[in-house]
Amino acid sequence: MNTETILIIGAAGNNGVATIDSLVKKETNATIRAAVRSSEKAAELKAKFPAIETVLIDLDKAETLTAAYEGVTKVFMIPGNVEQREQHAKNAIDAAVNAGSVKQFLFYSVFGAEYESILFGKQFRAGEKYLEQSGLNWTHLRTIFFQDNFFGWAEGVKQGGLYFGIREGSLAPLNVADIGEMAANVLTTSGHDNKAYNITGPELLTGEDMAKVFTDVTGKEVAYVSPTTEQTLESLLSTGWPEWQAKGMLELFEVFATNQAAVVSPDGEQLLGRPLTTLKDFVAANKAAFV
Ligand SMILES: NC(=O)c1ccc[n+]([C@@H]2O[C@H](COP(=O)([O-])OP(=O)(O)OC[C@H]3O[C@@H](n4cnc5c(N)ncnc54)[C@H](OP(=O)(O)O)[C@@H]3O)[C@@H](O)[C@H]2O)c1
Repeated sequence: MNTETILIIGAAGNNGVATIDSLVKKETNATIRAAVRSSEKAAELKAKFPAIETVLIDLDKAETLTAAYEGVTKVFMIPGNVEQREQHAKNAIDAAVNAGSVKQFLFYSVFGAEYESILFGKQFRAGEKYLEQSGLNWTHLRTIFFQDNFFGWAEGVKQGGLYFGIREGSLAPLNVADIGEMAANVLTTSGHDNKAYNITGPELLTGEDMAKVFTDVTGKEVAYVSPTTEQTLESLLSTGWPEWQAKGMLELFEVFATNQAAVVSPDGEQLLGRPLTTLKDFVAANKAAFV
C-alpha cells in the first residue's frame, strides 16, 4: 500500500528534475508531488514523468503552500536562485509544521553553510537553522559547485579557454544527476534524521586540472585562464546575473581560490553506494556542448 507522499519544492529546476528522475527510476510506491510555480512547468514535468502529481505554488505567497502539503509525509525543499531564499525556506518549513503529517524534511543547502562566511552560506544556513528549530525531522544536503555549471563556460572552452577565476585554488565539482540520486536515496530510506551531509565531487581539481580534462576529452587545447575579480564581475553582470548574485559568486570564487573548500567529502559516495561521476565522465557524456 502506498503510504508516502513526497513533495518536491523547486521541482522544475536542475536538482528537482534530477531527483524526480531518480525517484521514478526507483519505482517507488510513494506518490511524487512536484511543486512548481507555473502551469507551463507543470505540463513539462508531467509530459516527462507521467506518473507524478503536480501542484502550483508561489514561495513568495505562503498561503499557496497549504493545499500542496495535503497528505504529505516527506518534503524535499530546494530553494531557488533568488535573493529571498531564506524567506522561501521559512515559508516551506512553516507549511510543513502546519500540515502535521510531515515525518521527514530534506533541505537543499550549500557546502560550508555552517560557517556562514559568505552570502550564499548565510542564506542557506538561515533556512537550516529555522528547520532545526522547527521540531521537524531534518536532513541537510549541502552541495558544492556543480559540474553542470560548465555548460555556462562552453563558449570559452570552444574557443580554447577555460576562464574560471579561482587562481591556484582547487575544488571538487559535483554532478547534478548524482545529487538527484542521493536525494532520492535519502527520501526512500531511513536513518537520515537530524543529519547534515556535506557533498562534494569525487576529486580535487585546480583550474589547470579542469582545463586539461576539457583538452583531453575534446582533443583540442583548452588553456586555463583565471580572470581578475573585476573581469569576472563584469562578465557575470554582462550575461544578466543580478548584482547580489554576481557578488555572491565572487565570494564563492574567493573561497575556492584560497582553498577554503578544497575537500573531498565521503558523504556523497556513502549515500550513493557507488563512486561519484568525475568531471571527465561528465564532459565526455556532454562532449557535443564543448566542441
Ligand atoms: N550552481 C551551483 O554550483 C550550486 C551549488 C550549490 C547550490 N546551488 C543552489 O542550489 C539551489 C538549487 O539549484 P538548481 O540548479 O536546482 O536551481 P534552479 O534550477 O534554479 O531551480 C530552482 C527552482 O526554484 C523555483 N523557484 C524560484 N522562485 C520560486 C517561487 N517564488 N516559487 C516557487 N518556485 C520558485 C524555480 O522555478 P522556475 O523553474 O519557475 O524558475 C526553479 O525551478 C539554487 O538555489 C542554487 O543557487 C547552486
